[in-house]
Amino acid sequence: MKESSYLKKVKEQYENYPYPKRELKDEKGGMYTSNSENLTRLNHYGFKGDMPLFKKNKGKPFRVLVAGAGTGDAVIHMAEQLRDFNAKVVYLDMSQASMRVAKKRAKMRKLKNIDWILNSLLELPNMQIKKFHYISCTGVLHHLESPIEGLNALKSVLKKSGVMSIMVYGLYGRTGIYQMQELMKLVNKNENNMQKKVDNIKNMLPTLPAKNWFKRDEKTWREKLIQGGDIEIYDMFLHSQDRAYTVPQLYDYIEEQGGLKIIEFIGSSAHTGKLAYRPENYIRNENILKKVKKLSKIEQQSVAELMAGTFNTHTFYVANKADTVASTRDFDLIPYFTAPMLKNMILERKNSHLNKILKLNIEADKGPKGLLQFEMTPLRIKLIELVDGKRSINKIFDLIDLDNKELLKTFDPIYMMFHNFDLMLLKSKKFPRILTTYEMQERFITKYL
Ligand SMILES: C[S@@+](CC[C@H](N)C(=O)[O-])C[C@H]1O[C@@H](n2cnc3c(N)ncnc32)[C@H](O)[C@@H]1O
Repeated sequence: MKESSYLKKVKEQYENYPYPKRELKDEKGGMYTSNSENLTRLNHYGFKGDMPLFKKNKGKPFRVLVAGAGTGDAVIHMAEQLRDFNAKVVYLDMSQASMRVAKKRAKMRKLKNIDWILNSLLELPNMQIKKFHYISCTGVLHHLESPIEGLNALKSVLKKSGVMSIMVYGLYGRTGIYQMQELMKLVNKNENNMQKKVDNIKNMLPTLPAKNWFKRDEKTWREKLIQGGDIEIYDMFLHSQDRAYTVPQLYDYIEEQGGLKIIEFIGSSAHTGKLAYRPENYIRNENILKKVKKLSKIEQQSVAELMAGTFNTHTFYVANKADTVASTRDFDLIPYFTAPMLKNMILERKNSHLNKILKLNIEADKGPKGLLQFEMTPLRIKLIELVDGKRSINKIFDLIDLDNKELLKTFDPIYMMFHNFDLMLLKSKKFPRILTTYEMQERFITKYL
């Protein structure tokens, strides 16, 4: 690894504190998953529902790169989902200690579809490596001296039709953390011992006055700090290279400087999904909302970010072109519920709520929260009944004796209502069934452990 292609202090941190903290004994307890790595979402948002994914020994391998993969969460999640497919997952990180942890986890799971590379991601353009369909880069680019150099390095190995998911820090939601970082630079001025630096902040945290900006927001971070221990403490408060983005800065970085397109915000929690970036979630005054809705998309998303004040990360899909999202205009696509029990819940109420408003509180797994409400007309109920994950939009419409244009007028709002929560997505006929997280973990425990 060329010394000029990484920051010495950053490498030193991740050799001593491989991130995130993962222990083999926990592997049986569950799998760490993320929304962006979820293949069904990726298929919908990144490949118009028709991802080139084939069974083993068929077609070309689906290639995934996890850049700055750390102790391996995304690599494991991807490799588990792709176990039965013709696919290759490439792990890349510059920290040997992190790679060691990730390799042990993969070995325990008997995953054979991972290639391992110990190097800086800035070396990617020189690696003569085959290009990738999907690149995942979470919590890495904001730790580079030049984030644009990092983005360009990733772009150089992304297929033309490929997609990336990126997570970088959000500025406003980390206000307290940056004040603590400044504070600790002063407190640790002549301290070179990493563990002593950690001990110093551990001593200071309990004595922070109630109105300290980190203290005010402590609840947000508590669980992360308890789970991650010293590793998390170092990453949060003592990082030597750490920057964050507002929405406009993000567009400038990815689109203006990087020449790529932000496709959609995916989010990793209830607070950062695509709905969180919409002003209508926050503004209750109709006149103000009307005015705000006339602003550009970036300005509207900025309004949402400033109203919320809590975005501490931005997670989003990125591609060379903006037209990667599946649409109901493609009648060959198959709509499906991502949580099939929701369909049952609605249909169970079809008699009691006929022509009445049905209200359901949604709290999707790691997804947005909100109220789903709609009038249960007979046509709407019929359309929901016909969405079975097998019939295409064409087929569904064929089964109802109405003009397709009319049907689309009813179907589109239903689709959007569920889709806003990622509860309804679209896929092509060829897209295979992907096991649920629960099924994958069951398979690991019963077949591979
Ligand atoms: C905060 S951790 C994130 C790990 C993982 N992506 C996750 O989200 O769990 C940042 C990772 O990026 C790696 N990293 C930082 N700079 C890098 C570079 N220039 N090339 C490759 N990896 C790098 C670090 O070694 C570390 O493992």
